[in-house]
Amino acid sequence: MRVLGIETSCDETAVALVETNPWSTDILAQVISSQIELHRPYGGVVPEMATREHLRNLPLLVPQVMKEVNLSLDAIDAVAATEGPGLASSLLIGHSYARALAIALSKPMIGVNHLEGHLISPFLANRRAVEFPFVGLIASGGHTLLVHALGWDRYLKLGSTVDDAAGEAFDKVAKLIGLPYPGGPEIEKMALKGNPEAFGLPRSFPERDNLNFSFSGLKTAVRFFYEKSPQMQTEPEWAYDLCASFQKAVVDVLVRKAVAAVAQSRVERLAVSGGVLCNKMLREELEFTCYEAGIDLVLADAASCTDNAGMIAGVAAEKLAAGVEPRCGDDINPNLSLFASSEADGDAARGLSAAIKLKNRQAKKGLQEEDVVAPGEVEVW
Ligand SMILES: [Fe+2]
Repeated sequence: MRVLGIETSCDETAVALVETNPWSTDILAQVISSQIELHRPYGGVVPEMATREHLRNLPLLVPQVMKEVNLSLDAIDAVAATEGPGLASSLLIGHSYARALAIALSKPMIGVNHLEGHLISPFLANRRAVEFPFVGLIASGGHTLLVHALGWDRYLKLGSTVDDAAGEAFDKVAKLIGLPYPGGPEIEKMALKGNPEAFGLPRSFPERDNLNFSFSGLKTAVRFFYEKSPQMQTEPEWAYDLCASFQKAVVDVLVRKAVAAVAQSRVERLAVSGGVLCNKMLREELEFTCYEAGIDLVLADAASCTDNAGMIAGVAAEKLAAGVEPRCGDDINPNLSLFASSEADGDAARGLSAAIKLKNRQAKKGLQEEDVVAPGEVEVW
């Protein structure tokens, strides 16, 4: 089965063709047109400019992908596009293009949740079948999210950021120090020359059963040290240590929470994706910690960390192959949730807390592990 995927949720226009086989889903071809240079002078994404670029790019990228695999559009079985979450105007372009293409080809049109794409992208990148259950960590400029993935469309929110996303914190600290957008690679370059232990920066929610993230305190601490140092404001090399300490603080929190989430969810597998995963220190710390803890770590590669269409086509193809009813793709939803409903999120959180508390109580009473209700066993749907 071949699915053509289109992703335009933010500032990247991406088109991919995937094909399912009995063991995994392969990305046959993929092209991504990045708009970083276009938005760089503004220090962030300008929605209208992104929309115009998507409109210009899509009619060029779709034929380019089909040419790469030497196939005609008749050879595809379905068209998939990102339904949400994302920038409304950007989503509309990709979604409308995909719908028009599906109608013209008389093929099904499938709407895909962008976050579900990120969740499965590590499996696609490693040419592995999507193996439920697992804990997914998505760390990007728009999201910092821990998910207990029990099966297709059965996702339990374990934790998320209460303020900035991890990638957003990198961007904001980079801007404070006078580094260009996007901030992640710039901070990483500076951090390579610095001492990560030089500044004692705070880590949010250090308690093990709180899987939420917060980066505002960390950001404020960086600002405090930066503004107290006239040298840092005039000579960038004085900020090497501060960048290294900031990067270490973000990595520490992401790794610690992800490993705690795996333990609490009683799964064996951790799948990590999102643009922040391009950070080398984060990849190394995850690999080392998961190896020590005996966790099966599945990491997205550099090409699939950032927004891409392979993950969108991949979700649609895997669902079709598994006989799961995909979304019909009638309309976009910029606030589309990965979870059943906000009410279900609350129920899930309460169920999870109850399970954790019960586990702690039973542990205190000296009960065996199998007597304890695991969070994943709490029925929330
Ligand atoms: Fe994304």
